[in-house]
Amino acid sequence: MKTTIDQVKNYVGKEVTIGSWLANKRSSGKIAFLQLRDGTGFIQGVVVKADVSEDIFKLAKNMTQESSLYVTGTVVEDSRSPFGYELQVSSLEIIHEAVDYPITPKEHGTEFLMDHRHLWLRSKKQHAIMKIRNEIIRATYTFFNENGYIKVDPPILTGSAAEGTTELFHTQYFDEEAYLSQSGQLYMEAAAMALGKVFSFGPTFRAEKSKTRRHLIEFWMIEPEMAFMDHEESLEVQEQYVSYLAQSVIDNCALELKTLERDIDKLKKIQAPFPRISYDEAIDLLKEKGFDDIEWGEDFGAPHETAIAESFDKPVFITNYPTEIKAFYMKPDPDRPEVVLCADLIAPEGYGEIIGGSQRIDDLELMKQRYEEHQLTGDAYQWYLELRQYGSVPHAGFGLGLERTVAWLAGVEHVRETIPFPRLLNRLYP
Ligand code: 4AD
Ligand code: MG
Repeated sequence: MKTTIDQVKNYVGKEVTIGSWLANKRSSGKIAFLQLRDGTGFIQGVVVKADVSEDIFKLAKNMTQESSLYVTGTVVEDSRSPFGYELQVSSLEIIHEAVDYPITPKEHGTEFLMDHRHLWLRSKKQHAIMKIRNEIIRATYTFFNENGYIKVDPPILTGSAAEGTTELFHTQYFDEEAYLSQSGQLYMEAAAMALGKVFSFGPTFRAEKSKTRRHLIEFWMIEPEMAFMDHEESLEVQEQYVSYLAQSVIDNCALELKTLERDIDKLKKIQAPFPRISYDEAIDLLKEKGFDDIEWGEDFGAPHETAIAESFDKPVFITNYPTEIKAFYMKPDPDRPEVVLCADLIAPEGYGEIIGGSQRIDDLELMKQRYEEHQLTGDAYQWYLELRQYGSVPHAGFGLGLERTVAWLAGVEHVRETIPFPRLLNRLYP
């Protein structure tokens, strides 16, 4: 019976054949332990000299790392393995012999591994991270579909900037200049006025010269946008969504979390509601924590966010930032226009800002005023103004960074391991 590693539980006591690769191997004169992987999982194959032909045992002993093979054997339960099953091998058929696979079981430096990312993805830890990434994507679609949101795909080539012009990738669009999208938000606002509650999931690009554990040049963002919802209601959606992601990972990625040695008790605490503190309160908290020279009006950096997060064991919303330091489209607090109706969601354990969101300006005149202040001239932004001209409504939305969320939930230090082929300040290869 041809099957895959994730299905062997259905074949206990039966003989199966699995297309696989040899991840690692240990052998003595009488027995060989093959660590096999097939993409769906990892399983140990045990080859006992006394039970197989001489040729097969020789093949097992001499097989090289990452050679591909069809392995045939009987599935047995094995309580000692984290996976729970192993294979008593009866036969092996080599498909292709790998010679001198560069990533050996010894320790390698990060740059070496990054240069071999196309192969590094095969390793157990990377496999676990990609499975968790997939689970977060799957859970995202389920959450929004079950809550009445429509998926809308905003364009990647755009004529307008959503988040400030300094971080844009420029490209030629026939005889016009275009940019790679840094956020689909402006288009998602148009979509919300057509479809009510919408969400997007796609790549975004930031030509930011940041080289930190939280920054990618190309990253994937989930951007929900909701008509007839205010800032407060948006925060409720955010905490429900993030709690759902954490629970989905706990429920469906037990083996992967074990492989990554993730502290699951920390994940279990991620349950709505999340605490909220205002920017003003955050400034006071930072002063108490020894950041003496932080002043009202300054943006927070990673050390500030980490210090604030340390006071909470759940993600925390920092709300109502100064209008000056936030994007042009955010709605000022009607009672206090020097701050905007916005929030950043800061993850615990130093993972930083996971979500940025806000209520949007819905008043045409105020938006025109913002255009002037931010010098948003030209045709590229005309359509966005028209959303305020024809049946404008209160609306809010947010953007969740996929890779930062994967890093946090999987307990991975650096975002470069949470995307298959990271684009970093110094890396476009492979
Ligand atoms: O806070 P940001 O810039 O917000 C927006 O782009 C809004 N237009 C979203 C919206 O309201 N629809 O980015 C949102 C999130 C951040 O909180 C962070 O998780 C992630 O995107 N992010 C990055 N992730 C990796 N590398 C980078 N360089 C990132 N920049 C932002
Ligand atoms: Mg932000």
